[in-house]
Amino acid sequence: MDLQKTVSNIETVFNFDYDMDWDELLGLYEKAKKRQWNASEAIDWDRPVDLERGILEDERIAIYGTPLWDRLDSKKQNELNYLNSAWILSQFMHGEQGALITCGQIVSSIPWLEGKLYTASQVMDEGRHVEVYTKYLQLKLGRIYPVNQELNQLMKMVLTDSRWYFKLIGMQLIIESLALASFKSMARNSKDGLIKDVIKYVMADESRHVGFGVLALRDLITNEIPEAEREELADFAYEACGLMAKGFFPAEVYAEVGFTEADIPEIRETVRNAPARREFLSGLWSVLVPNLKKVGLITDRMRPRYEEVRLLQYEDLPVMDNEEFPGATS
Ligand SMILES: [Fe+2]
Ligand SMILES: [Fe+2]
Repeated sequence: MDLQKTVSNIETVFNFDYDMDWDELLGLYEKAKKRQWNASEAIDWDRPVDLERGILEDERIAIYGTPLWDRLDSKKQNELNYLNSAWILSQFMHGEQGALITCGQIVSSIPWLEGKLYTASQVMDEGRHVEVYTKYLQLKLGRIYPVNQELNQLMKMVLTDSRWYFKLIGMQLIIESLALASFKSMARNSKDGLIKDVIKYVMADESRHVGFGVLALRDLITNEIPEAEREELADFAYEACGLMAKGFFPAEVYAEVGFTEADIPEIRETVRNAPARREFLSGLWSVLVPNLKKVGLITDRMRPRYEEVRLLQYEDLPVMDNEEFPGATS
């Protein structure tokens, strides 16, 4: 077994007040129950996957469209696509397990009963997400990469902080917004049809999870958390945005297709300015920044810092449409 253990001092809250009247949250719980799906039946696992054609869209490869990409022949380009896809999907699989464990912690520590019921449904969702990514990687790609260091760092922060609302900010708002932003293009443009199906189903659940994060945190952060703590949470949100802007870079994948240690700085520099990366980030900020604003984490003190990195331009965008893939949820 390959275990990573951390100690988390969460407060376990038993709520004996069974009068549940938070209708919006109960509505989300109803929706979650109605839209459960069985991963073994909903997805056609017999569908063949052509590894030589590539899996996700080429635009997901950081050097795509740059001189470094042109240096590879088409066979190597497809190999890079395959390995890079396995790397990205492995990170999703690890992230899903992080979400599963975090949600279990939130069930214990969130005080509202409506919140406990809703998060219980999310535990089931995340379990299913671990299941589909594991199955796809093991059965179809035959390749799994270890967790990326930055992602692991962010998940550890979320898992070890004792506060349930800190976990909600880190997981439901930030990490799940990152997932949503990636899924949007992957579900449309991936080369492989089976992974498109998998992602469409997962994505329909994830938009509900981000919706829960916003709903649960909206009034709490603005009205109930003391100012000093609110500012501390705002700092964490900004720091997490910075981690994601830096990106999760699959150095091992580039080594496998023949790039040397000496090429890595050039690749990193290219990646930073690559159009595909810029487009991805702008998708991420369009989901994340309006949500951070809505829950009150872009405080007056923080505004100049967001302004400085040009993120305020996203603050008033509408939140992403939850019903974008109705076929996957009906
Ligand atoms: Fe998930
Ligand atoms: Fe999720």
